[in-house]
Amino acid sequence: MKKYGTMRWLLTVAVASLLHLASPAEYLLPGDVLPRHYDLKYAFDIDPATNFSFYGIVEILLDVKHETSKIVLHATDFTISAEDVTVTGPKSPKVTGTRLNDTYNLLTVSLDCKLEQGKNYTLTIPFYGNLKQGLDGTYISTYVNKQTKAKEYLIATQFEAISARKGFPCFDEPMYKATFTITIGHHKDFSAISNMPLVNAVSENPLEEIWPWTQIEETFKKKKADFVWDTYEKSLPMSTYLVAFVVSKFSYVQSPAELSKTKFRIWARSDASDQTAYAAVTGPKALSYFEQWFNVSYPLPKQDMIAIPDFAAGAMENWGLITYRETELLYDEKQSSFLNKERVAEVIAHELAHQWFGNLVTMKWWSDLWLNEGFATFAASVAVNHVEPTWNADMSYAVDNMLSVLSLDALESSHPVSVAIDDPKRITEIFDEISYRKGSTLIRMMTMFLGDEVFRKAINNYLRKYSYANAEQDDLWRELTAANQQYGGLTRNVTVKEVMDTWTTQTGYPILTVTRDYDDKSLSIAQRRYFSLVARTATRQSWWVPLRVLCQPEVGNANMPLQWLAANEGLQDLHTFRHGAGREEWVLFNHDMIAPYRVNYDPRNWQLLIRTLKMEDYTQIPVLGRVQLLSDAFALAWTNHLDYNTALSLASYLQREKDYLPLSTGLKALSKIENVLKRSPDYGAFQKFVRKLIGETYEKSGGLATKRIINGKDLNSVKMQVTTSAWACRVKVPGCEENAMQLFQQWMDTENPDENNPIPLDLRRTVYCVGVARGSVLHWRFALAREQRANVAAARDALLQALTCTKEIWILAQYLEWTITEGSEVRRQDAGAVIANIVRSPVGFYVAKDFIYDRIEDIYNAFKGQGRRIGHIMKILLDQFTTQTELDNFLSWRDKNARFLAESKLSVEQAIEKAKVNIDWIAKNRQSVVDKLREFSMESSDEELEDRALRLGLTHDAASATSLHALLVLLAPLYIV
Ligand SMILES: *[C@@H]1O[C@H](CO)[C@@H](O)[C@H](O)[C@H]1NC(C)=O
Ligand SMILES: *[C@@H]1O[C@H](CO)[C@@H](O)[C@H](O)[C@H]1NC(C)=O
Ligand SMILES: *[C@@H]1O[C@H](CO)[C@@H](O)[C@H](O)[C@H]1NC(C)=O
Ligand SMILES: [Zn+2]
Repeated sequence: MKKYGTMRWLLTVAVASLLHLASPAEYLLPGDVLPRHYDLKYAFDIDPATNFSFYGIVEILLDVKHETSKIVLHATDFTISAEDVTVTGPKSPKVTGTRLNDTYNLLTVSLDCKLEQGKNYTLTIPFYGNLKQGLDGTYISTYVNKQTKAKEYLIATQFEAISARKGFPCFDEPMYKATFTITIGHHKDFSAISNMPLVNAVSENPLEEIWPWTQIEETFKKKKADFVWDTYEKSLPMSTYLVAFVVSKFSYVQSPAELSKTKFRIWARSDASDQTAYAAVTGPKALSYFEQWFNVSYPLPKQDMIAIPDFAAGAMENWGLITYRETELLYDEKQSSFLNKERVAEVIAHELAHQWFGNLVTMKWWSDLWLNEGFATFAASVAVNHVEPTWNADMSYAVDNMLSVLSLDALESSHPVSVAIDDPKRITEIFDEISYRKGSTLIRMMTMFLGDEVFRKAINNYLRKYSYANAEQDDLWRELTAANQQYGGLTRNVTVKEVMDTWTTQTGYPILTVTRDYDDKSLSIAQRRYFSLVARTATRQSWWVPLRVLCQPEVGNANMPLQWLAANEGLQDLHTFRHGAGREEWVLFNHDMIAPYRVNYDPRNWQLLIRTLKMEDYTQIPVLGRVQLLSDAFALAWTNHLDYNTALSLASYLQREKDYLPLSTGLKALSKIENVLKRSPDYGAFQKFVRKLIGETYEKSGGLATKRIINGKDLNSVKMQVTTSAWACRVKVPGCEENAMQLFQQWMDTENPDENNPIPLDLRRTVYCVGVARGSVLHWRFALAREQRANVAAARDALLQALTCTKEIWILAQYLEWTITEGSEVRRQDAGAVIANIVRSPVGFYVAKDFIYDRIEDIYNAFKGQGRRIGHIMKILLDQFTTQTELDNFLSWRDKNARFLAESKLSVEQAIEKAKVNIDWIAKNRQSVVDKLREFSMESSDEELEDRALRLGLTHDAASATSLHALLVLLAPLYIV
């Protein structure tokens, strides 16, 4: 395994204190024998009457590295036909026993003699079992054929991270790459696809000789006359988690041949095959672009992409057969929104980037998962930028990623990008924002400080050198350092590794405190780790921080040199910089958001910046600079590094802002305040402040006026309209909810509402939510009926989430019940999002909290194998807390229910810290912030009256609109990819 340096070791201990620590020897395979090739054969009976029985046999060609008399590999969730396990090779070893220990899913095959070093052996294991409806391993998914109304079944796989062992006995660690030849027997009504192209489909069972037919049930034997046996080409060497196959009655659309030399097919339920057109074009375009960008050809002859009706993640990058949740692959012009389309492009690009970063070159062990996910997340923006050049994907993804890093990574309980993993069961926990978004942010940072060309040269070398093999982050640093030495890039005498180790092996990020000397054009910088709560422990962490400093007189100068704050600078002694801003001119740090850090200035510099934003041409400050300022000001005010007067004064310029990114950043920052005020008497004051801030932009962007057509507009204006509309209804901009209700009513009055929906596509989520929140049970039932009939997953999803907006407690209780009921309206893949949304809504919170506390065992059972989901729900639940009582109740509940939270320990720690942050804020800031909100919105007397009325509860209740809170969060991607 990995060797840890001292710093890494300390961090390992820190993380290990949260998680129980096991020694690597316990859970890792011994490595005495290496798999070189798998010959994997299955027969599946896709029939509920036989409980989906299946038979499999795997022959593994082994290369013996150290002589041994036992072979250890992984297996779980099926039965091994122990008496039929054999090993062939020199001296014909006899199997003396097989033992399965489920703690780490280890299967030990004991032999009567030692396998000889350097020799080849073949291990043969027959196995059988019944497939279950689930979300990982080899599982059954279901759907209803809209034409025949028949319930249909399919088989899909999800093997990442450690579920290949549920599919077949294998060496289930990413290091053990091997080739695979797969054969699948199935009824001829179905078709099967796998990583590689089909080479041979025969009706004669090729397994007759080797199959342990004694095991096979009579019914199965009768059916085999109708079976076909599909064999696929031998794969390239790859990790087990990338193996995939699907057996279904789906149909496919082939991509236009001129877009790529790779044969591309997009698969879906036959009813949905007309929703594949966008993917059929975007996929090959992105793939061809990556070939050029990586300068390495895509090594497989084909690429299949398939939408699975039940899917835990967003998508999975299986080599040559990418599987997706329906919402992340399918796009329908009449039913999907622009934002759905954006998401589809992003996910396709992400998965295709993995075909190189992840599949061709793979991390050695899951602790470097960020190499896979961070890179794919970053590369997605590169390809989407190429495929959809008007979307500015590079900037918008950079902002999304950076802002979530700054938020999560300010917790003391965050974790380093490169994280030690002591128990394979907790691997799923690190498929989180740190791996994806911090990883991506750091990769973008490297492209910026090295330059795109140097960066790509290094990546090309890395990909070539480690093709069909594994690497860890030091291998990447080595290539980057070498390219830097050869071509230049870094503006300081430091290696890439030195810089990057400060970012990837340490938790958190720095805050720079900038203090200007207004007399001699200099400033000093101090750095230390930033926490969202006063840290219990002092840290001496520091970073290599890339800096680009913009001075007001230099606005428009594109060639600003990159400077560095070294890891030993700005600690004890302040580090001094010279700059070109005069007494009345501002300086601005990180206006290109090159790296995740916060910046605080002396009060005068803040005032100079605010003056430009409010009084002058605010575009003097570049878009990302405005994003950084807004995000910093609110974060720093939240932690009492800056007063709220400054933050709110700065935010008030947003009345003029025409760009989506700064506006949404400001609103996102405000939603943090909203979150702790929304169940309090002060919520009216908050709503009033936001009304004033966005009222005009809402009108100008088109609002919810029924006649405005928003299709065909550019993405920036669509996002402006969607975001301001959602906020406008939520903070009661006059007319907003009324418009929404009108639209919803029109829809209810429409003949054939499933075909004819008068609500503008991109505004549907907002309108649905208001309709359900303010309407009666009739409205709820209407939305439910539409959800049940919808054939487009994106449309169904919007309705499913809108149903959480109701304020009827009994309906919420019923809806929550469905999330854990097999075969109910809510598919298991959507259950987590439904619960989370109810938790977030002000009324739903109380219902959901009771539900979670009372029913955790049922929730746990319903979410088995999806530990991440429970962790996610815990984070959202505790983020709602504002009182110590709520937290104390949780803590005592947790102690009694620890066994259900074992797989979400890290998330629960983070959740508790979030609750503490909120409680702390209420104590320190609530009164002063509410006073300031009132002060800032104290202008229009009409509004003031309305506000008072609201506070006195004289008009409709203030809480109603906040169910929309959930919807805004929904706009952010929910599922890992
Ligand atoms: C299974 O493995 C675990 C961890 O190595 C060990 O503690 C336990 O005793 C084993 N159980 C059996 C039945 O061997
Ligand atoms: C073991 O198998 C590999 C791959 O099939 C082959 O190249 C190699 O020659 C074999 N080694 C021996 C000692 O038989
Ligand atoms: C860069 O740093 C290395 C190692 O610290 C040193 O050996 C070398 O002389 C330095 N180069 C320059 C140009 O300063
Ligand atoms: Zn990914």
